[in-house]
Amino acid sequence: MESLDLKGKKGIVFGVANDRSIAWAIAQVLLQSGAKLAVTYQNDRLRPRVEKLLEPYGDALIFECDVSDDANVETLFKSVREQYGSLDFVIHCIAFAQKEDLQGEYSATQREGFRIALEVSAYSLLPIVKNAAPLMTNGGSVVTLSFLAAERVFPGYNIMGTAKAALENAVKQLAYEVGEKNVRVNAISAGPLDTLASRGIKGFLDMKGIYVERSPMRRNITHQEVANTALFLCSDLSTGITGTVLHVDAGYHIMAV
Ligand SMILES: NC(=O)c1ccc[n+]([C@@H]2O[C@H](COP(=O)([O-])OP(=O)(O)OC[C@H]3O[C@@H](n4cnc5c(N)ncnc54)[C@H](O)[C@@H]3O)[C@@H](O)[C@H]2O)c1
Repeated sequence: MESLDLKGKKGIVFGVANDRSIAWAIAQVLLQSGAKLAVTYQNDRLRPRVEKLLEPYGDALIFECDVSDDANVETLFKSVREQYGSLDFVIHCIAFAQKEDLQGEYSATQREGFRIALEVSAYSLLPIVKNAAPLMTNGGSVVTLSFLAAERVFPGYNIMGTAKAALENAVKQLAYEVGEKNVRVNAISAGPLDTLASRGIKGFLDMKGIYVERSPMRRNITHQEVANTALFLCSDLSTGITGTVLHVDAGYHIMAV
Protein backbone atom coordinates (compact mmCIF):
# COMPACT_ATOMS: atom_id res chain seq x y z
CA MET A 1 0.00 0.00 0.00
CA GLU A 2 1.21 3.51 -0.84
CA SER A 3 2.00 5.57 2.26
CA LEU A 4 1.57 9.29 2.69
CA ASP A 5 4.73 11.32 2.32
CA LEU A 6 5.71 13.14 5.52
CA LYS A 7 9.25 13.96 4.43
CA GLY A 8 10.43 17.16 6.07
CA LYS A 9 7.98 16.85 8.96
CA LYS A 10 9.22 16.41 12.54
CA GLY A 11 7.39 15.11 15.55
CA ILE A 12 7.35 13.36 18.92
CA VAL A 13 5.69 10.07 19.74
CA PHE A 14 5.07 9.65 23.48
CA GLY A 15 4.59 6.27 25.13
CA VAL A 16 6.53 3.43 23.53
CA ALA A 17 6.84 0.55 26.01
CA ASN A 18 7.34 -2.41 23.67
CA ASP A 19 6.67 -3.70 20.16
CA ARG A 20 2.94 -4.03 20.90
CA SER A 21 2.52 -0.41 21.99
CA ILE A 22 0.14 1.59 19.83
CA ALA A 23 2.81 4.29 20.01
CA TRP A 24 5.28 1.94 18.33
CA ALA A 25 2.83 1.05 15.54
CA ILE A 26 2.33 4.77 14.94
CA ALA A 27 6.06 5.54 15.16
CA GLN A 28 6.84 2.92 12.54
CA VAL A 29 4.26 4.25 10.08
CA LEU A 30 5.49 7.82 10.60
CA LEU A 31 9.14 6.79 10.16
CA GLN A 32 8.27 4.85 7.01
CA SER A 33 6.50 7.95 5.66
CA GLY A 34 9.80 9.84 5.93
CA ALA A 35 9.07 11.89 9.06
CA LYS A 36 11.81 12.67 11.58
CA LEU A 37 10.91 11.33 14.98
CA ALA A 38 11.70 11.73 18.65
CA VAL A 39 10.31 8.83 20.66
CA THR A 40 9.79 8.82 24.40
CA TYR A 41 9.61 6.03 26.96
CA GLN A 42 8.57 6.31 30.59
CA ASN A 43 11.57 5.05 32.56
CA ASP A 44 15.01 3.45 32.51
CA ARG A 45 13.60 -0.06 32.59
CA LEU A 46 12.10 0.43 29.13
CA ARG A 47 15.10 2.10 27.51
CA PRO A 48 16.95 -0.98 26.15
CA ARG A 49 13.78 -2.30 24.51
CA VAL A 50 12.95 1.03 22.90
CA GLU A 51 16.54 1.50 21.71
CA LYS A 52 16.45 -1.93 20.10
CA LEU A 53 13.17 -1.15 18.32
CA LEU A 54 14.62 2.07 16.93
CA GLU A 55 17.97 0.56 15.89
CA PRO A 56 16.98 0.27 12.21
CA TYR A 57 15.99 3.95 12.17
CA GLY A 58 19.39 5.56 12.71
CA ASP A 59 18.49 9.20 13.20
CA ALA A 60 15.46 8.81 15.48
CA LEU A 61 15.89 10.56 18.83
CA ILE A 62 15.09 8.70 22.05
CA PHE A 63 14.21 10.40 25.33
CA GLU A 64 13.01 9.35 28.74
CA CYS A 65 9.89 11.24 29.78
CA ASP A 66 7.71 10.55 32.79
CA VAL A 67 4.69 12.84 32.41
CA SER A 68 4.02 12.84 36.15
CA ASP A 69 7.12 15.05 36.46
CA ASP A 70 6.63 18.53 34.96
CA ALA A 71 10.38 19.17 34.85
CA ASN A 72 10.83 16.00 32.80
CA VAL A 73 8.35 17.25 30.19
CA GLU A 74 10.01 20.70 30.05
CA THR A 75 13.46 19.15 29.65
CA LEU A 76 12.23 16.90 26.86
CA PHE A 77 10.80 19.82 24.88
CA LYS A 78 13.99 21.81 25.45
CA SER A 79 16.06 18.95 24.00
CA VAL A 80 13.69 18.51 21.05
CA ARG A 81 13.73 22.26 20.36
CA GLU A 82 17.54 22.22 20.34
CA GLN A 83 17.65 19.29 17.93
CA TYR A 84 14.68 20.03 15.64
CA GLY A 85 14.01 23.78 16.02
CA SER A 86 10.34 23.29 15.18
CA LEU A 87 7.69 20.58 15.31
CA ASP A 88 4.86 19.42 13.04
CA PHE A 89 3.12 16.75 15.12
CA VAL A 90 2.90 15.13 18.53
CA ILE A 91 1.39 11.73 19.32
CA HIS A 92 0.24 11.17 22.93
CA CYS A 93 -0.13 7.45 23.73
CA ILE A 94 0.00 7.49 27.51
CA ALA A 95 -2.39 6.12 30.10
CA PHE A 96 -2.13 4.62 33.55
CA ALA A 97 -4.38 3.52 36.40
CA GLN A 98 -3.55 1.45 39.45
CA LYS A 99 -4.55 -2.18 39.15
CA GLU A 100 -7.02 -1.96 42.03
CA ASP A 101 -8.82 0.87 40.23
CA LEU A 102 -9.46 -1.25 37.13
CA GLN A 103 -11.75 -3.71 38.89
CA GLY A 104 -14.48 -3.93 41.49
CA GLU A 105 -16.89 -1.17 42.40
CA TYR A 106 -16.28 2.13 40.65
CA SER A 107 -17.51 3.97 43.74
CA ALA A 108 -14.69 2.36 45.75
CA THR A 109 -12.06 4.26 43.74
CA GLN A 110 -9.80 6.04 46.20
CA ARG A 111 -8.95 9.73 45.88
CA GLU A 112 -5.30 8.94 45.12
CA GLY A 113 -6.12 6.38 42.42
CA PHE A 114 -8.51 8.86 40.81
CA ARG A 115 -5.82 11.55 40.85
CA ILE A 116 -3.11 9.31 39.41
CA ALA A 117 -5.28 8.02 36.54
CA LEU A 118 -6.56 11.45 35.58
CA GLU A 119 -3.16 13.10 35.91
CA VAL A 120 -1.21 10.61 33.83
CA SER A 121 -3.89 9.78 31.26
CA ALA A 122 -5.61 13.14 30.73
CA TYR A 123 -3.81 16.06 32.39
CA SER A 124 -0.55 15.10 30.66
CA LEU A 125 -1.94 16.28 27.33
CA LEU A 126 -2.12 19.88 28.60
CA PRO A 127 1.60 20.54 29.26
CA ILE A 128 2.42 18.62 26.09
CA VAL A 129 0.25 20.94 23.98
CA LYS A 130 1.47 23.99 25.91
CA ASN A 131 5.08 23.13 25.09
CA ALA A 132 4.46 21.81 21.57
CA ALA A 133 2.21 24.55 20.15
CA PRO A 134 4.86 27.33 20.18
CA LEU A 135 7.20 25.01 18.24
CA MET A 136 4.54 24.36 15.59
CA THR A 137 5.43 27.47 13.66
CA ASN A 138 3.95 26.13 10.41
CA GLY A 139 0.87 24.75 12.11
CA GLY A 140 0.74 21.26 13.51
CA SER A 141 -1.21 18.24 14.63
CA VAL A 142 -1.59 16.68 18.06
CA VAL A 143 -3.13 13.21 18.29
CA THR A 144 -4.10 11.34 21.45
CA LEU A 145 -5.53 7.88 22.01
CA SER A 146 -8.92 7.37 23.61
CA PHE A 147 -11.41 4.57 24.10
CA LEU A 148 -15.21 4.26 23.91
CA ALA A 149 -15.34 3.96 27.71
CA ALA A 150 -15.18 7.78 27.63
CA GLU A 151 -18.78 7.70 26.38
CA ARG A 152 -20.23 4.38 27.57
CA VAL A 153 -19.84 2.06 30.54
CA PHE A 154 -17.40 -0.81 30.11
CA PRO A 155 -17.51 -2.85 33.33
CA GLY A 156 -13.98 -3.09 34.74
CA TYR A 157 -12.69 -0.07 32.86
CA ASN A 158 -13.78 2.05 35.84
CA ILE A 159 -11.54 5.06 36.48
CA MET A 160 -10.00 4.84 33.01
CA GLY A 161 -13.44 5.65 31.56
CA THR A 162 -13.43 8.84 33.61
CA ALA A 163 -9.88 9.60 32.52
CA LYS A 164 -10.77 9.12 28.85
CA ALA A 165 -13.84 11.35 29.23
CA ALA A 166 -11.57 14.05 30.67
CA LEU A 167 -9.07 13.46 27.86
CA GLU A 168 -11.74 13.88 25.16
CA ASN A 169 -12.96 17.08 26.79
CA ALA A 170 -9.35 18.32 26.94
CA VAL A 171 -9.03 17.61 23.21
CA LYS A 172 -11.92 20.00 22.52
CA GLN A 173 -10.70 22.75 24.83
CA LEU A 174 -7.12 22.53 23.56
CA ALA A 175 -8.32 22.47 19.93
CA TYR A 176 -10.14 25.73 20.62
CA GLU A 177 -7.15 27.28 22.35
CA VAL A 178 -4.55 26.56 19.67
CA GLY A 179 -6.80 26.54 16.61
CA GLU A 180 -5.91 30.08 15.57
CA LYS A 181 -2.26 29.04 15.41
CA ASN A 182 -3.26 26.39 12.90
CA VAL A 183 -2.49 23.68 15.45
CA ARG A 184 -5.03 20.84 15.47
CA VAL A 185 -5.84 18.50 18.36
CA ASN A 186 -7.72 15.26 17.79
CA ALA A 187 -8.28 11.88 19.44
CA ILE A 188 -8.43 8.43 17.94
CA SER A 189 -10.90 6.26 19.84
CA ALA A 190 -9.46 2.82 19.15
CA GLY A 191 -11.12 -0.56 19.50
CA PRO A 192 -9.43 -3.13 21.76
CA LEU A 193 -5.85 -4.06 20.82
CA ASP A 194 -3.49 -6.44 22.63
CA THR A 195 -0.96 -4.30 24.48
CA LEU A 196 0.69 -4.09 27.90
CA ALA A 197 -1.95 -1.60 29.08
CA SER A 198 -4.98 -3.51 27.77
CA ARG A 199 -3.81 -6.74 29.39
CA GLY A 200 -4.41 -5.03 32.73
CA ILE A 201 -8.13 -4.66 31.95
CA LYS A 202 -10.23 -7.45 33.42
CA GLY A 203 -12.44 -9.02 30.75
CA PHE A 204 -10.36 -7.61 27.90
CA LEU A 205 -10.55 -10.83 25.86
CA ASP A 206 -14.33 -10.98 26.28
CA MET A 207 -14.46 -7.42 24.99
CA LYS A 208 -12.59 -8.45 21.85
CA GLY A 209 -15.11 -11.25 21.29
CA ILE A 210 -18.02 -8.85 21.68
CA TYR A 211 -16.54 -6.52 19.04
CA VAL A 212 -16.37 -9.47 16.61
CA GLU A 213 -19.97 -10.37 17.39
CA ARG A 214 -21.54 -6.92 17.30
CA SER A 215 -19.46 -4.43 15.32
CA PRO A 216 -20.74 -3.68 11.82
CA MET A 217 -17.52 -5.08 10.36
CA ARG A 218 -17.72 -8.21 12.58
CA ARG A 219 -14.04 -8.08 13.51
CA ASN A 220 -11.44 -6.40 15.66
CA ILE A 221 -9.22 -3.64 14.36
CA THR A 222 -5.45 -3.80 13.91
CA HIS A 223 -2.56 -1.72 15.22
CA GLN A 224 -1.87 -0.81 11.60
CA GLU A 225 -5.33 0.69 11.15
CA VAL A 226 -4.84 2.96 14.15
CA ALA A 227 -1.36 3.90 12.95
CA ASN A 228 -2.64 4.73 9.45
CA THR A 229 -5.30 7.00 10.96
CA ALA A 230 -2.64 8.77 13.02
CA LEU A 231 -0.61 9.22 9.84
CA PHE A 232 -3.64 10.77 8.13
CA LEU A 233 -4.18 13.12 11.10
CA CYS A 234 -0.52 14.20 10.95
CA SER A 235 -0.66 14.75 7.21
CA ASP A 236 -1.87 17.69 5.17
CA LEU A 237 -4.87 15.59 4.10
CA SER A 238 -6.56 16.35 7.43
CA THR A 239 -5.92 20.10 7.74
CA GLY A 240 -9.62 20.86 8.26
CA ILE A 241 -10.10 18.44 11.15
CA THR A 242 -9.72 19.48 14.79
CA GLY A 243 -11.35 18.90 18.17
CA THR A 244 -12.73 15.59 17.02
CA VAL A 245 -12.76 12.00 18.23
CA LEU A 246 -12.28 9.65 15.32
CA HIS A 247 -13.47 6.11 16.07
CA VAL A 248 -11.24 3.39 14.66
CA ASP A 249 -13.25 0.47 15.98
CA ALA A 250 -14.82 -1.39 13.04
CA GLY A 251 -17.91 0.75 13.70
CA TYR A 252 -18.66 -0.72 17.15
CA HIS A 253 -19.53 2.72 18.60
CA ILE A 254 -22.69 3.09 16.48
CA MET A 255 -24.30 -0.07 17.86
CA ALA A 256 -26.88 -0.08 20.64
CA VAL A 257 -26.80 -3.84 21.12
N1 LIG B 1 -4.84 -1.22 23.76
C1 LIG B 1 -6.08 -0.83 23.62
O1 LIG B 1 -6.99 -1.66 23.50
C2 LIG B 1 -6.43 0.62 23.57
C3 LIG B 1 -7.67 1.01 23.04
C4 LIG B 1 -7.98 2.38 23.02
C5 LIG B 1 -7.06 3.29 23.51
N2 LIG B 1 -5.86 2.88 24.01
C6 LIG B 1 -4.93 3.89 24.51
O2 LIG B 1 -3.74 3.86 23.76
C7 LIG B 1 -2.71 4.48 24.54
C8 LIG B 1 -1.46 3.61 24.48
O3 LIG B 1 -1.68 2.40 25.20
P1 LIG B 1 -1.28 0.97 24.65
O4 LIG B 1 -2.52 0.16 24.61
O5 LIG B 1 -0.44 1.09 23.44
O6 LIG B 1 -0.44 0.34 25.86
P2 LIG B 1 1.10 0.52 26.28
O7 LIG B 1 1.18 -0.07 27.63
O8 LIG B 1 1.99 -0.01 25.24
O9 LIG B 1 1.26 2.10 26.33
C9 LIG B 1 0.94 2.87 27.46
C10 LIG B 1 2.14 3.77 27.66
O10 LIG B 1 1.90 4.72 28.70
C11 LIG B 1 3.15 4.91 29.31
N3 LIG B 1 3.01 5.58 30.59
C12 LIG B 1 2.28 5.20 31.67
N4 LIG B 1 2.49 6.07 32.69
C13 LIG B 1 3.35 7.02 32.23
C14 LIG B 1 3.96 8.17 32.79
N5 LIG B 1 3.76 8.53 34.06
N6 LIG B 1 4.79 8.90 32.01
C15 LIG B 1 5.06 8.55 30.73
N7 LIG B 1 4.51 7.48 30.15
C16 LIG B 1 3.67 6.71 30.89
C17 LIG B 1 3.71 3.51 29.44
O11 LIG B 1 5.09 3.51 29.74
C18 LIG B 1 3.41 2.97 28.05
O12 LIG B 1 4.45 3.30 27.16
C19 LIG B 1 -3.29 4.65 25.94
O13 LIG B 1 -3.76 5.97 26.07
C20 LIG B 1 -4.45 3.68 25.92
O14 LIG B 1 -5.45 4.02 26.86
C21 LIG B 1 -5.53 1.55 24.05
